[in-house]
Formats: sequence, C-alpha cells, structure tokens
Amino acid sequence: MNVLLIGSGGREHALAWKLSQSKRISKLYIAPGNAGTKNVGTNVSVNPEDFEAVRDFVRGNGIHMVVVGPEAPLVAGIVDYFQNEPSLKYIPVIGPTKVGAMLEGSKEFSKEFMVRHRIPTARYNAFTADSLEEGFKFLETLNSPYVLKADGLAAGKGVLICDELVEARIELTSMLVEHKFGSASDKVVIEEFLKGIELSVFVLTDGKNYKILPPAKDYKRIGEGDTGLNTGGMGAISPVPFADQTFMNKVEERIVKPTVAGLQRDNIDYKGFIFIGLMNVSGEPYVIEYNVRMGDPETEVVIPRIKTDLIDLFEAVADQSLDRVKLEVDPRTACTVMLVSDGYPGAYEKGRRIGGLDKVRDSVVFHAGTKDDNGNVLTNGGRVLAITSYGENMTEALEQSYANAQVVNYEGKYFRSDIGFDLLN
Ligand code: AMP
Ligand code: GLY
Repeated sequence: MNVLLIGSGGREHALAWKLSQSKRISKLYIAPGNAGTKNVGTNVSVNPEDFEAVRDFVRGNGIHMVVVGPEAPLVAGIVDYFQNEPSLKYIPVIGPTKVGAMLEGSKEFSKEFMVRHRIPTARYNAFTADSLEEGFKFLETLNSPYVLKADGLAAGKGVLICDELVEARIELTSMLVEHKFGSASDKVVIEEFLKGIELSVFVLTDGKNYKILPPAKDYKRIGEGDTGLNTGGMGAISPVPFADQTFMNKVEERIVKPTVAGLQRDNIDYKGFIFIGLMNVSGEPYVIEYNVRMGDPETEVVIPRIKTDLIDLFEAVADQSLDRVKLEVDPRTACTVMLVSDGYPGAYEKGRRIGGLDKVRDSVVFHAGTKDDNGNVLTNGGRVLAITSYGENMTEALEQSYANAQVVNYEGKYFRSDIGFDLLN
C-alpha cells in the first residue's frame, strides 16, 4: 500500500516512523515532511492546503490512503474535496470532514455539540461585538479567573485567562471590537474556570466504533514548574498515573461514547482522530476542548506505545470495521522531552546546525522543526526535536531522554528539565 502523510512536525515524524514499520507499506510519502521523516519515507514538496496539488500527487503516484496530521487542511475541507472528486472518492483520507473539523475550528460549535449531547464541560456563553454589553453582564455571573476563548483557530493563542474582572472586560473588548485575533475573535466564548489537572485523551473512530488510545499529559508552558508563556508543548508522558481505570471508565461512559454517538446523531461523517482535552476536577472529567487530530508532543509518546499495525487500524477506520481490530498497547511508560530554540515561543533563530544525533542511544528522536541541508540537519522551528524514551516507570524513561538531551547539540538549545514533575509522588 502507498500512503501519503500530510504535515511536517514531530507528530508527523512519529506517525511516519510507525507507519514505516508496517509490513503492509510499500511507499510512504510525507508532504512536506522534515529532516526526520526523510529517514523513514520520501518527503515531497506538496503544499497540503493546495488540494489540486495533493490530488495530482495522489493520482500520479498510486496513493491508496491519505493520513492528515494537522488540523488546517481538515478545517479547510480536504476530506470533502476527496469525497467530491470522482477520481479520488475511493481513496480513504484519515480525518474528519469539514463539518466534523469544526469541533476544533469553532469553539462555539464544539460547546453547542457538548451541550446537545450532554457531555460534561464548563458553563459558557458566546458573544459578538453586538452583544458586548451582555458579555460584560455574563462575566459578572462568573467567579475569577475568567476564561475567554476566540471562537476560531488562533494558532493556539486564542485562550485568555484573566484574574481580574476589569482585565476580562478589556480583553473581551479587544477581542471583539479591536480584532485582537483577527476574524478568529469575531465571536468569543466566555466560560467558567475549571480547577484541576489536565490530560489528553485520544480516540480513533470510524464514525461508529472507536478505540481509546493511551492517555497522555503534555507540558504547555515554556518555564519550569509550569510558568511563563504557553507553547505548543514542551514534553509529554504516557500513561498518566491519575488516569486510572475508574477515571477512564468515567471518560468512556460520559465523554467518549456520547461524543461518537453525537457525531452519528448529527450526521457528521467522522473517520479519524479525536483529541479530547480534559480537566480532572476532583476525579470527575470535563471536556476543555476537542481537537480533530493527534496532539503534539502527545503523539510522540502515544504512538510509540501502540503495538498494533497502524495500517490495520486506519484501514478499519476507512471501512468502519474498527470493532474487529484489537488495539495492543505497550505497558511501558513513554516520555518525550522537547528541545526548542532559545527565544521560543517568541522570536528565535533558524538554520542552526544540529550535532550529536548519531550519538543518541536508547531513545527515539522525532524531528519537529528541522530541515535537511545537503546532509546537514538544521533547526527550522521553535520546537526542534522531541526525544522519546521508554522506561519501566516515568523516572526511568525521563532519565534516558535527559541523557540524550545532553548529547544532541545546537546553538540556543533549551528544554524543560522538569517534565512529569507534577506526577511524581
Ligand atoms: P484550549 O485552547 O481550549 O485548550 O485552552 C488552552 C488552555 O487554557 C487549556 O489547555 C487549559 O489549560 C486552559 N483552559 C481552557 N479552558 C479552561 C477552563 N474552562 N478552565 C480552566 N482552564 C482552561
Ligand atoms: N499538545 C497540544 C496540542 O497538540 O494541541
């Protein structure tokens, strides 16, 4: 089978690494990929958001399946494009249709979905510039801190948490009236603050059946002790100790089942990953958000723990027979530590030469922001490399990743040395 994987980050390198291990793969292409995916497949310079270019590549290279890593092509309707194009409609694309992708593409849509299907989430209301005054009144019914979310995609920056009511009013005005996040904040969801500990739960669904993948916890802040600015994610751990059987049963009954049933009831054609961002509030799970893709860097710990052939899983997603595939999970702990560029998540330099990759032992290095320059690997993003290791426990896995974090070098290397700190007893 020939597969085209779309994307270029650490998530895609982890997916490509796993796909390349399948006995059923003949050719694996990654569009556009990075210096790491090049070692497990063939990078192709096709812009994933140029659907005609994707179509031409798929037709010209005998592609049998397309796997979409990031959300942008899904939100833009790549699945619908394939379904509506006669020459493509028999080629499965792993990912939801455009309306399904709105679970991530619009906060209001996803909140309405949760309310309609009685899925536990924070109380909320949505406002536009015309209802600014009502937004102020709604803020007064909530307690501090105040959570404001731009309705649309805002590159992970669209959520503001304000301690003071005055600050929340100013930010709400700035989002709605001054277009702080462009058109993404033409509408703003204001919601109740949930106090607890977060985790990420991943579901693979064929629209009818589902598999719950190993849960993971990611570390979003740049600074140790979860301080400083939000990033795409600085590290991750799987499994998550507090996500025990009792908790996961609640997640399955109260959240996963009604989510998959809700998609069916709403006639949303959804064949792909659902990433459920959860808050554990005193042992009770609440949905913070849905994403319509895998998480990054969570993929770098979740995928290495999946023993089942990914092609078998994806094929079952395509023909709605996921109930007939067994999901086998590695019981070991996997952790990943993200090496980033100095300055990230603000401005940073690119193009710095990375050394020591050949000296890494007993970890898998997934490339996030790298590029190949005539055999040299250069930094090409804020998040550069994710160093994943297995261990009998979290401490063992982390020791291994940290040892290799010292071995890899480039100018301006930074990483958090406290991944998992909140999970240690
Ligand atoms: P989101 O983009 O919706 O994932 O929000 C970004 C981050 O804001 C989440 O990962 C949480 O840490 C935080 N957050 C979002 N909504 C809430 C909420 N209702 N209560 C507490 N924290 C929240
Ligand atoms: N790690 C969080 C995300 O992928 O959105």
